[in-house]
Formats: sequence, structure tokens, C-alpha cells
Amino acid sequence: MTDGPANVPQKVPHHVAIIMDGNGRWAQQRGLSRLKGHEQGAESVRAVMKGARNHGVRILTLYAFSVENWSRPAAEVNGLMNLLPRFLRKHEHLLHENGTRLRAIGRLNDLPANTRKDLFRVMADTEAYTERQLVLALSYGGRAELTDAVRALARKVKAGELDPEAIEPETFAGELYAPDLPDPDFMIRTSGEQRISNFLLWQLSYAELYFAPELWPDFREEQFAEAMRVYAGRQRRFGGVASC
Ligand code: FPP
Repeated sequence: MTDGPANVPQKVPHHVAIIMDGNGRWAQQRGLSRLKGHEQGAESVRAVMKGARNHGVRILTLYAFSVENWSRPAAEVNGLMNLLPRFLRKHEHLLHENGTRLRAIGRLNDLPANTRKDLFRVMADTEAYTERQLVLALSYGGRAELTDAVRALARKVKAGELDPEAIEPETFAGELYAPDLPDPDFMIRTSGEQRISNFLLWQLSYAELYFAPELWPDFREEQFAEAMRVYAGRQRRFGGVASC
């Protein structure tokens, strides 16, 4: 809980995860290429980073590219792979100004070298910041992450370093892509679709879910503020009873 101006909700999620859906539909409605929709979507990323900072959200995780997205037409995949480094070069100053550490989760080795280059450079340049974190899910899939975690545990068991009976939920969580991150408190999905689509399957167990009707390129600071108001009105129980 934070004290803030009267128009800012008092209960603020520490970690917000977002499925940025609807870029393609936004472009289609305007007779534009899908890539134009992603470019406008990148503007929403900038707006939501600002909104998150203003509301006191400390961690923002964005589903930028899923393992399933590799099956899209090559032109769209290439466009997205070029958009990310362009976005990072244009906006990395914001990360420095706001003390934001950039991180990435997913099968990052799948990304083309030029995408990885700027991504890893900006991650290294912002590594020391502790105030805020921007986490990009890239070539990410929840089932892939869980599978990778199982493989890591199995390797330890095989090497005789781990007793299977000693595996607890915390042991498992320790093998996820960013094990130090707290679970998201709030998950937003845009475009009216009400699905999780293989996003953070383990980490979203107790998250509050919010489905916004706007397509992602139309989801800006005002829509983010509305989502924050909705979160402030939610009562979280984590399987227990309400505390007050
Ligand atoms: C889903 O919309 C969106 C994506 C697959 C890509 C998300 C990428 C961005 C928002 C831009 C770049 C991101 C960063 C971090 C700079 P969709 O294409 O599935 O839309 P549709 O369901 O309407 O077809």
C-alpha cells in the first residue's frame, strides 16, 4: 500500500504482467500491414512503461513474442525481430532515467543475432538498477519454461545432486527463467480475448486477471490507469479468507 495523490489508487500491484493482444486487428481495421500494428503497439509499450512508473508499479512483464509466434509469416517475424532493437535504441534513455533494469525471459538463443545484440547490451547496461524492472518475454512459452525447469531438475537428480523426494514447489520455482522475480499480482490482457495463452503458467497461479476491451495499440496511459483502479478494488485471498 502506498500513500499517493487522491486520484491515484492506494493498492498498487507490485508486479504487472501483460498480454499485448490485438496489434494485427488494429492494423486490419485501418487497411494497414500487421507490422504497422506492431509499431503502434510499441508506442503503447512506451505509454504503459510511463503509466506503470507513475502508479508505482515496480515490475512490468510484457509478452512480446511467444514460442508459437515463430509460425507467423516470415515478413511479420522479421519485422518484429527488427522492431525490438529499434525500440530499445530509441527508448533506452527512459530505462536509465527511471532506474529500470531490462531483463528477458524465454528461449533467448532462438532470437536472431542482431536482436540479441541490442537486447543483451541494454540488459548489461541497466543491470545495476534496482528501482524498477522491465521484463520482456521473448520466444517465451509457459510450457517450454516448465519443460526447461523439469529438464534442469532431472539433470541434477541424474548427477546425484538432488533427491527427488526433496523437490518442493520452491525447488521447482528456482529453475524458472527468472527465479528471483516475485509472481505477478495482476495480469492484463487486451483485445477482449479471455485466455492466458501459455503465459507464465506457474507464476500466474494467484494473479488477479483483467481483460481490457481495447486493442493493444489503443491501450495507453488512460486505459492503464483504469486497470489500476480495477486492481485497487479487488480483494485477494490466496486461498484463505478475506483479511478485512
Ligand atoms: C499480439 O497481437 C502481439 C504480438 C504478437 C507482438 C507484440 C509486440 C509488440 C507490442 C511490439 C513490440 C514490443 C516491444 C517490447 C517493443 P496480434 O498480432 O496477435 O494481434 P491480433 O490477435 O489482432 O492478430
